[in-house]
Amino acid sequence: MPDIALYFVLDAARTEVRSLLKVRRNGAHDRPLKLDGDELTPLEVRVDGQPLTPDQWAMEGGALIIPLGGEEHEVETLVGLAPQSNSKLMGLYASGGLLCTQCEAEGFRRITFFPDRPDVLSRYSVRLEADKRLYPVLLANGDPVEKGDLPDGRHWARWNDPYPKPCYLFALVAGNLACNADSFTTQSGRNVQLGIWVKEADLPRTAHAMQALKNSMAWDERVYGREYDLDVFNIVAVADFNFGAMENKGLNIFNSRYILADPDTATDLDYDGVEGVVAHEYFHNWSGNRVTCRDWFQLSLKEGFTVFRDQNFSADMGSAAVKRIEDVRVLRAAQFQEDSGPLAHPVRPESYMEISNFYTATIYNKGAELIRMMALMLGPERFRAGTDLYFERHDGEAATCEDFVRAMEEGGGIDLAQFRRWYEQAGTPHVRALLTHDAASGTAELTLEQHMAPTPGQPGKLPMAIPLRVALFDRDSGKSRGDELLMLTQARQSFTFDDFATPPILSINRGFSAPVIIETDRSQADLAFLSGHDDDPFARYEAMQQLMVNVLVGRVGGQMVDDAAVIAAIRDTITDPLLDSAFIAEAVRLPSEAYIGDQLAQVDPDAIHATRDALQYRIGAELESLWRAIHGKTQANAFSLSPAAKGARKLRNMALLYLNASGADDGAAIAFGQFSDADNMTERQAALATLANGTSAEREAALDIFYNRYRDDALTLDKWFQTQAFAFHPDTVDLVEELGRHPDFTLSNPNRVRSLYGAFAGNQWAFHHRSGKGYRMVADCIIALDKINPQTAARLVPPLGRWRRFDEERAAMMRAELQRILSQPGLSRDVTEQASKSLD
Ligand code: ARG
Ligand code: ZN
Repeated sequence: MPDIALYFVLDAARTEVRSLLKVRRNGAHDRPLKLDGDELTPLEVRVDGQPLTPDQWAMEGGALIIPLGGEEHEVETLVGLAPQSNSKLMGLYASGGLLCTQCEAEGFRRITFFPDRPDVLSRYSVRLEADKRLYPVLLANGDPVEKGDLPDGRHWARWNDPYPKPCYLFALVAGNLACNADSFTTQSGRNVQLGIWVKEADLPRTAHAMQALKNSMAWDERVYGREYDLDVFNIVAVADFNFGAMENKGLNIFNSRYILADPDTATDLDYDGVEGVVAHEYFHNWSGNRVTCRDWFQLSLKEGFTVFRDQNFSADMGSAAVKRIEDVRVLRAAQFQEDSGPLAHPVRPESYMEISNFYTATIYNKGAELIRMMALMLGPERFRAGTDLYFERHDGEAATCEDFVRAMEEGGGIDLAQFRRWYEQAGTPHVRALLTHDAASGTAELTLEQHMAPTPGQPGKLPMAIPLRVALFDRDSGKSRGDELLMLTQARQSFTFDDFATPPILSINRGFSAPVIIETDRSQADLAFLSGHDDDPFARYEAMQQLMVNVLVGRVGGQMVDDAAVIAAIRDTITDPLLDSAFIAEAVRLPSEAYIGDQLAQVDPDAIHATRDALQYRIGAELESLWRAIHGKTQANAFSLSPAAKGARKLRNMALLYLNASGADDGAAIAFGQFSDADNMTERQAALATLANGTSAEREAALDIFYNRYRDDALTLDKWFQTQAFAFHPDTVDLVEELGRHPDFTLSNPNRVRSLYGAFAGNQWAFHHRSGKGYRMVADCIIALDKINPQTAARLVPPLGRWRRFDEERAAMMRAELQRILSQPGLSRDVTEQASKSLD
């Protein structure tokens, strides 16, 4: 399909799409032409200008089949769409008066008949026509070429995209939009017009996204030598969107939550999310668009690589240490859980029922870790040589993960034969590390053993190639001998280190060099040492986390474990004048209830909550005056997004949390004070969250004030729902049930659904309420939402699929809900796949 011309006559109730395809027979065969379609009916079919009669074509499971005689033809089809009633948000749909599209992965077939697969690359010419008053702005991929007015208040615009692309990158937008316009000059001197298109009232909230875009463009030139390739780059923010954003060529479409930000409504985390997602989608222009995927099994080729790129960009824009800590926390929370459950799959999967279900933490975040390991093994120069070769070799092609690995091998000069198993084997490797010391010879020996549990369809596993950054600290001097990269390639392997008079202290998987679970028998004293002295910030953070995990896991298991080492380490950390605030806040944060559960053979949500709460109380009470002092430090300057200002807010919020946990009489009053006085959402929401955990009168007051202030601002009202769904409150399960009936709750907006039920399902203590109410509520939501938006409904299934990790009573209730979901007539493929795999 070398060329495609599309003609849209746009209208929310009824849109007409005429498509003209230049079709060339691919190889010597006599099969008919098959064009994918989903919920489409052909109104006209023509071949070389001649209308076909209905007996000259056929429909087969939504697809249009046309027998063709020659080698080359022009095929024309006409279809009618109803964007207004497209609640799946795939294909062409309406959102708040706009018309917009989402095609990845298989949405283009809901717009017109086409071979909807990523290895079919075509040049697009698109003409849009619409009512000029309702839709004054008409955007599509590529460069604008012509526009004009028509009678009856109508107008049109034509866009041409000179770069052949797969149809999943097609996009159009029509609506009444205002533009934050700017420009960027590329390294070769090309002037690019940048536009961020939003509702007029949202214009003041687009500055951060614009700055992030310009920074991303400069960064990709500097770090990867990649320059933008069209005269315009447009971004549009829409309120109803199934995920974060979409990298359509020259016309990125975003969930508005990743564009709009101002101090009154966005937290620092939201600001970082905007920066990261703007960068991610921009980076796809090379890793995804110029080089795309041959098929959807290769999805991580573009997603893993692009996540790696956006992670490094954000690290360069702010604190690299804190960014790594945050990224590892996300990986462990989402991907390690996925890898250890019924939905575990390799980074390059071998089968799927519905591709939408494979936009997972494994494809994205573990995929990024694979690239990170290769970059580590190669070093910056050779890694760059590898990516240069990859882009040069595959520009304009639909490539595979194997192509990427081969470019790394040839460009970087490395053998990745065994490393390829990371793409094939699902599951998280466990590495047991044992350090022994021989006083007579003065040597230390590190023995590493790896093993991987079976995952669905993969009963046995082969050893992985695991790059581990390691350092040994001399006990007497307190200094390390420096960082070494060890390659663990066998099931069991030993490494020897000379010249240690006394047993050294092991720092391992520094920087989280490999996405594995490390098991060591390091003492609390050694962990405390590392938490105060390790010169790798991630390892230092990790030592502190492990100290806390040891206490928590021991106590949940019924042991009396002393918390003195934890409290001392936290005291040392918060009083260390050399540490920056953001790092301190990360280091002193208790591991989540879910993470504690992951360390146990069976999750006991009530015991975990009580144990964590008790340790939080101890840390609060023992160090109360320090928390009070940190919280009382007022910020002299006006709101700023500097790393120092963000760090100060993060630490202040952590202090507020511990101060409240301490049981201090004035805790709620101090939180309410912060809530009322804050000039930014970071402190306001943190105060609200702290209050929401308690039962004070201030809780209700703050929730009411927040609601009344933001009830007309959907993105901020989402925070009101989310904060309550996340709350550590004994009645959360009932409160969420009530919120599901709130007039502002709706199943038609994915952000709202995620804020309430998505957040709730991530609140381990509340979701796993022993009554089973939480399971029932989420299942009810899945069943109701499946009829509206199956893709978003399917995303709520995995928490129910974790039943194996719980006691028999809870497991039985979870399974019963999965069965109830599966028994619904007309259930979507999306939910069917997730629920049936979850029961296996
Ligand atoms: N490619 C988009 C991104 O940059 C996400 C598309 C998600 N599509 C889906 N069907 N879930 O991450
Ligand atoms: Zn992506």
